[in-house]
Amino acid sequence: MEKLKVGIVGAAGRPSAFLAAFKGSGRAVLTAACDLNQEALDKALKDVDGVDRYTDYTEMLEKGNLDAVIIGTPMHLHVSQSIEALKRDIHVFSEVTAAISIDECKSLLKACKSTQAQYMMGENCNYMKPYMLIQEMVREGVFGDVFYAEGEYIHDCRDLLYKTPWRREYVYEKRGVTYGTHSLGPILNWMEGDRVESVCCAGSGRHNRDLKGKEMAGDDVAVMLCKTVKGHLIKIRTDFASPHPYSLNFTLQGTNAAYEGSHFSKNQDDIDFIWINEESEKGRWDSLSKYEEKYTPKLWRDIDEKARTSGHGGSDVAIMTDFIDSLYEGRTVPIDIYKSLDMTLPGLVSQESILENGVWLPVPDPREW
Ligand SMILES: NC(=O)c1ccc[n+]([C@@H]2O[C@H](COP(=O)([O-])OP(=O)(O)OC[C@H]3O[C@@H](n4cnc5c(N)ncnc54)[C@H](O)[C@@H]3O)[C@@H](O)[C@H]2O)c1
Repeated sequence: MEKLKVGIVGAAGRPSAFLAAFKGSGRAVLTAACDLNQEALDKALKDVDGVDRYTDYTEMLEKGNLDAVIIGTPMHLHVSQSIEALKRDIHVFSEVTAAISIDECKSLLKACKSTQAQYMMGENCNYMKPYMLIQEMVREGVFGDVFYAEGEYIHDCRDLLYKTPWRREYVYEKRGVTYGTHSLGPILNWMEGDRVESVCCAGSGRHNRDLKGKEMAGDDVAVMLCKTVKGHLIKIRTDFASPHPYSLNFTLQGTNAAYEGSHFSKNQDDIDFIWINEESEKGRWDSLSKYEEKYTPKLWRDIDEKARTSGHGGSDVAIMTDFIDSLYEGRTVPIDIYKSLDMTLPGLVSQESILENGVWLPVPDPREW
């Protein structure tokens, strides 16, 4: 079978992290790239040959003869650009979040229902090695029944407000969980077959200013509680403005084991911990690395050493490899439209809950739309 021809939009920004996935792939080739900023595009592609360059997305879709497109533009463009590609039966890999409103989620689903192509949201945190390891352990029954999880994402990226001004409106100044899929994604993978049924959300108010001293609307901390269809509880905390070391962190509790993840800080003792009933010593965590040999999934074993240390702990290459492999082998993509919306919708509903004093609100099931 011929290699898949892939294009990238927003190529001068975030998607350049995926270039490493194409270097090692025998199944896909990057043939086109688009960015409004021609100079930045040329810079991003300076070491890449044989890629047609565009500054107009529609023109790339029309002339590029593409099988798939990677959308890495600002959040509010994801849905319109996905629909443009799906209408032409071009597969879509879209950056997070899938959409910025519930109406957009509906339009995206409608487009997915009337195309031959597949849609996947690129939630790369699902592909981080420790989280894939935990997923494998859950599947093997190590945790028993999982019933509680916490995910926190604390990332002071106020410096990006000047380079990427859209973040002010869509991530910072809206209330509620505006960028929650990094936290919810891995948790929903661990709670396989379940989805969030209702959420409530509260905020801390705003205490931090932007880096030029200007006041910002919104909250520094947003906390969302989620109840799942199976009655499980999830707590999500996001914070993009407080002085705090970067922290992507998870807790998972099952009837037989507990997981306390690292925070991805620079501290040497910041590691992933696990405790397993009748295996771990009472009162003492084990390092998750003890179980690496047994539970590392095949996807991770197969990607090469260099890619493992590339973007976001190797997860960018891992997710792109899985996307390409599933299209090439004619399988359903791993994060299909329904899973993508299951990760995106709770945050969108939390934005309504916070405006109504934290009332519990139902999260729609896109399978019923
Ligand atoms: N998954 C992750 O770990 C991760 C990390 C960072 C960013 N992101 C997501 O990636 C996306 C991009 O983030 P960013 O920080 O690179 O943003 P950005 O503002 O730098 O945008 C990326 C690029 O898109 C280009 N662009 C904007 N509008 C365009 C258009 N209409 N046509 C063609 N090109 C256009 C810009 O010129 C820019 O080079 C966002 O959705 C963000 O949420 C995800």
